Amino acid sequence: MAELLRENDKRTHYATELSAVNVGDRVCVMGWAQKQRDLGALIFIDLRDRSGIIQLAFDEKTDREIFDKAFSVRAEYVLCAKGVVRRRGEGAVNKNLPTGEIEVAVDEFRVLSVAQTPPFEIVEDSKVNAELRLKHRYLDLRRPDMQGNIIARSRISKIARDYYAENGFIDIETPNLCKPTPEGARDYLVPSRVHKGKFYALPQSPQLYKQLLMVSGFDRYFQIARCYRDEDLRADRQPEFTQIDTEMSFVSADDVMKMHEGFIKRVCREFLGKEITEDFIRMPYAEAMSRFGSDKPDIRFGYELTDLSEVVKNCGFKVFAGAVEMGGSVRAINVKGGAKFSRKEIDSLVEFVKSYRAKGLAWLKWAETGDISSSYAKFLSEEENEAIKAAMGAEAGDLLLIVADKNKVVFDSLGALRCECAKRMDILDPMDLKFLWVTEFPLLEYSEEDGRFYAMHHPFTAPMDEDLEYLDSDPGRVRAKAYDIVLNGTELGGGSIRIHSGEIQSKMFEVLGLSEEESQEKFGYLLDAFRYGVPPHGGLAFGFDRLVTLLLGLEDIRDVIAFPKVQNASELMTKAPSAPDAGALAELGIAIVNEE
Ligand code: AMO
Ligand code: AMP
Repeated sequence: MAELLRENDKRTHYATELSAVNVGDRVCVMGWAQKQRDLGALIFIDLRDRSGIIQLAFDEKTDREIFDKAFSVRAEYVLCAKGVVRRRGEGAVNKNLPTGEIEVAVDEFRVLSVAQTPPFEIVEDSKVNAELRLKHRYLDLRRPDMQGNIIARSRISKIARDYYAENGFIDIETPNLCKPTPEGARDYLVPSRVHKGKFYALPQSPQLYKQLLMVSGFDRYFQIARCYRDEDLRADRQPEFTQIDTEMSFVSADDVMKMHEGFIKRVCREFLGKEITEDFIRMPYAEAMSRFGSDKPDIRFGYELTDLSEVVKNCGFKVFAGAVEMGGSVRAINVKGGAKFSRKEIDSLVEFVKSYRAKGLAWLKWAETGDISSSYAKFLSEEENEAIKAAMGAEAGDLLLIVADKNKVVFDSLGALRCECAKRMDILDPMDLKFLWVTEFPLLEYSEEDGRFYAMHHPFTAPMDEDLEYLDSDPGRVRAKAYDIVLNGTELGGGSIRIHSGEIQSKMFEVLGLSEEESQEKFGYLLDAFRYGVPPHGGLAFGFDRLVTLLLGLEDIRDVIAFPKVQNASELMTKAPSAPDAGALAELGIAIVNEE
């Protein structure tokens, strides 16, 4: 049944390139049958290509053979149609289609491929279950919204290439088979056949290579780089993802931020048609934590954290006073208008904070009617209750939510809770894009569990000059020349000025508990390179998938990745990962000991 494409079958237009201007033109279109309507002596087929839809019209009187062929067409058949563009008849005009005024009166027609009935209809916003979509991703990608996403991704990548090239960045590819790179996630390992028992790591980022390129003198490096991290997946994380990765020599943190802010503004202008004139806010980490309980604050709305520790430290309620006494704090948010939440909804917020290890959530609901109900008021004196209300600026209609705990738990739970409440209050507009820089991150993070410090960013991030003196005496206090760019509560990118002094780098390894030998074994090549003249340098990487997701107002990064993986890191269509055959394993000198 399938016919071949003939030598002179050349597409003249994509579907939506045609309009009333083309009436009378002879054209050739190709694509998929969206649907076929049989009106007896007339048949209409909606032909879909990546641009949209054009109506094909077949008349019994024109050519019997073509008409019969059109009669046999089913959804998703692949077609080549030639004919003359004409206006649709009175009453047949479809105002919802760009090509709704016209149709092609077909006089030459080929069915290039027949199609089975697809497992779901190829339409926008189809409510098909995610698993089925991913299993037949090639069909899912045929849907107009997915086509739009993937094409948008390509456009944004082009804007990035243009912007960075115009600013003197050189596009350089770095290896995918390499030594482990230090971004703090688990590595994907690739066994070496030649060196049995040894493994390459897939890069978590091109971090060390791009620093070496600065040593080589390229001065400005750029790459749209694939990165691999074996970590637990979430809506904004994939095991392999893409960075817009950059590095610059002879720059300060301010230079790097300005450069990348320029890119974001350019994307907003060229892709969204939105002009952003003002500079992005720069907010020190400490401020982000104390105001928003998060190092990636969503600043589209208020509900900021208030520290009530001073107000309640001497109160009779042990939960509050005890937390302050233990060196923690009592903090709260005021959800304006939140009094409309039912008791059941408030109970679900109590459950919500428990997943952030909060032991409880104290609340006060001040209804519009003036009635007050509360989980904690009865434990406090009248004055203490009034003091809390005053500190929170509470009024009728408000809901106060209080957490008392160790600071980390208080910030984590309230930081997440304020976003959850905003979601439930339905006050978030995904296209209200609020960018900011978070700066002055702590250089190190102490792990109670392991009893040691870890680099908050990576071990090559430079300490702030004014804090250098504490690197020995009080490492936890040292801030870094690191910056994250944040959009609506998502970390869009991060970077830093790097250590370029061998001395400080050695000290850093020491603080991280790496012995001389260990650091030499792991990063010796970088330390060696730095002995041959290293320029001061720094850079940043954007999460490209996240950037595209947010610019399109979406939530799941899988919607902007052609072939993504699911929660358990497998790919449903190809069923990767799979067991290699025994021969391949033997050749690699590998035996599977636990096949669970
Ligand atoms: P970082 O680890 O912060 O920095 O990564 C940069 C950005 O990459 C995105 N990202 C991810 N996106 C999707 N899935 C993931 N699993 C994932 N992990 C990270 C985030 C993040 O902000 N080498 C440094 C950059 C530098 O210092 O120049 C780095 O990789 O949006
Ligand atoms: P309890 O005395 O445990 O019944 O708690 C009284 C109220 O305080 C309840 O509403 C609890 O949810 C709340 N609560 C308990 N622990 C905490 C905490 N760590 N922070 C905030 N509120 C809490």
